[in-house]
Amino acid sequence: MSTTTIFVCGATGTQGGAVVTNIFKTPTLKAHAIARDLSSPASQSLKAAGVTLFPGDFNDEDSLRTAMRGCTGLFINLMPNLADLTQELAQAKRLLTIAKEVGVEHVVYSSGFSVDHPERRRHYNPDGFVTKVLLSKQKVEEAVRSAGFKYYTIIRPGNFMTNMLAPHVNMMYAGLVEKAAITTAFTPDVVLPMIDTNDIGKFATAAFLEPERFNGQEFEIASELMGFEELVRALGGVMGKEVKINYMSQEEIDAQIPVNPFLGGQLMMRDMVDCVDMGKVRSWGIPLGTFGEFLERESARVKATYGI
Ligand SMILES: NC(=O)c1ccc[n+]([C@@H]2O[C@H](COP(=O)([O-])OP(=O)(O)OC[C@H]3O[C@@H](n4cnc5c(N)ncnc54)[C@H](OP(=O)(O)O)[C@@H]3O)[C@@H](O)[C@H]2O)c1
Repeated sequence: MSTTTIFVCGATGTQGGAVVTNIFKTPTLKAHAIARDLSSPASQSLKAAGVTLFPGDFNDEDSLRTAMRGCTGLFINLMPNLADLTQELAQAKRLLTIAKEVGVEHVVYSSGFSVDHPERRRHYNPDGFVTKVLLSKQKVEEAVRSAGFKYYTIIRPGNFMTNMLAPHVNMMYAGLVEKAAITTAFTPDVVLPMIDTNDIGKFATAAFLEPERFNGQEFEIASELMGFEELVRALGGVMGKEVKINYMSQEEIDAQIPVNPFLGGQLMMRDMVDCVDMGKVRSWGIPLGTFGEFLERESARVKATYGI
């Protein structure tokens, strides 16, 4: 049986880690990855799981060339650098050029909701923090699309369930963990397309296994749609107390956005649910996780986050 080797970006992180986990469920798939610190616990567990791990950096061509040799698939997930918004595209182009050189056939890029058309969102703000992130990814999407690989796939994941765990929750929802209270730019009727990052791993792996079916496909994915209040109630259940929600007025939001960019993010997320077609997501036949299952699977991190 012939094997297919996938170069997984960010394997020590959330999305890349989920891709590796799912790749290893198929005996014919192997994974190569780089890490900036080979001695970190995340690197050690990747090695133990069977990933061929190389020292490297997205900014270092030679390390990427060495690590990507022998790979026919490339999973791209990059971090936007708000201090230098050209970096994400530069890293993507570097990865794509080397991937071409070493014979990669299929590129799967994990992007973000409505990256192709952010201007269609109700609270689109051309100067906003979220817009900058989306436009940075838009350029990467275009680079992937036009790079001329035999197969390409763009998946656009929704709101990560991991955002509700440390360290993210403490930045994104200040007050939730320590005071059981959230002050938010959401409205009571907001519905969030939540994604278990493990499902990103499932979709990416499925794409590598069925390149013809996924070729040229670009689509939003979510695991479960959850009302914001339903999500808060679920977290209150975890904490064993009721979480108080303070909905901000538009004037309060406008005044706070310059010092708290996450509020701009919440404003944009008010109509996020309109971007996803769950019928289409389910039509791929990939089993989707739920927030309840996520909390159970990640119970150690949940306990550490909420001090329970
Ligand atoms: N949070 C959400 O709801 C959401 C929704 C949609 C899309 N996204 C997007 O998802 C991305 C974040 O993904 P994630 O949560 O998987 O990130 P993450 O957990 O923070 O992992 C980042 C990974 O990238 C690696 N990395 C960063 N810079 C590197 C470099 N210069 N060279 C080599 N490796 C490098 C890190 O490696 P080290 O171990 O060396 O640090 C780590 O493995 C962002 O682009 C974000 O916009 C997020």
